[in-house]
Amino acid sequence: MADTDDLKETHDYHLTVPQQAEPFPLKGCHALDWGMQNRLSKIFSPATGRTVMLAVDHGYFMGPTTGLERIDVTINPLLKFADTLMCTRGVLRALTPATFTKGISLRVSGGPSILKELSDERIAVDIEDALRLNVSAMAVQVFIGGEHETQSVHNMTRLVDQGLRYGLPVLGVTAVGKELTRDAKYMRLATRICAELGATFVKTYYVAKGFETVTASCPVPIVIAGGKKQPEADALTMAYQAIQQGAAGVDMGRNIFQSNAPAAMIQAVGKVVHEGFTPREAYEFYQDLSSGS
Ligand code: R5P
Repeated sequence: MADTDDLKETHDYHLTVPQQAEPFPLKGCHALDWGMQNRLSKIFSPATGRTVMLAVDHGYFMGPTTGLERIDVTINPLLKFADTLMCTRGVLRALTPATFTKGISLRVSGGPSILKELSDERIAVDIEDALRLNVSAMAVQVFIGGEHETQSVHNMTRLVDQGLRYGLPVLGVTAVGKELTRDAKYMRLATRICAELGATFVKTYYVAKGFETVTASCPVPIVIAGGKKQPEADALTMAYQAIQQGAAGVDMGRNIFQSNAPAAMIQAVGKVVHEGFTPREAYEFYQDLSSGS
């Protein structure tokens, strides 16, 4: 028999206190279902609304590029500094510790290698497997203006439909092919198309001129890719400018894992994204950490 001797008889229904419901803070995401918002909260820090995503999915079309030859050796030690890992299911199952409890953005499109036409991608992961892996988002490449533009958009919209069914966000990744111009006009077009067609958040490249118009005209959060390796000071400046101009974070790969000091670099990026460090402060922080002082 249950022990009911100590049951408290008094109740306080807080009759004068209206029920609280905190608005979901992420841009354009207030109307999403609870599971979707909960997954987004694993990607974007609830404290700052921003994210440092560590992108290591390059192998899905490039093979073992510089810095990713041994992900267990070079990337796993960086996981503690990232808000989210962006990777393939191969790397997730084979190399990523299941004790990693932050966000996972799973690469779910693929097909062609660097030897072929890159825009000819298909959906490469069943959503059932994405759910089995307990990921926080599905990332799909969208090639606006590319040879297989419609097919890549269709890949994304199918994933959006499936994601909405199960509460799994979709990251639309705007791909800039060799022939496409990387300017604000193109980025506004590509990011807006992704958002209009249902991407939960969008990844694009930073452009030096007019990036604030890209973030302003995209109704959902934007994160920037790092792009090709630059000197650390330049990459930190790019991250700073992107954040100041409305980006909700970075999804950075080569500028972290190809840095001379990847652990110092990802922490310096984190200072810019989450703590508003200026490029100079962040670079000094990077230098101090990388020199061991
Ligand atoms: C490349 O297609 C992958 O999606 C990467 O995740 C993306 O380009 C970000 O990596 P990086 O900062 O090296 O450009």
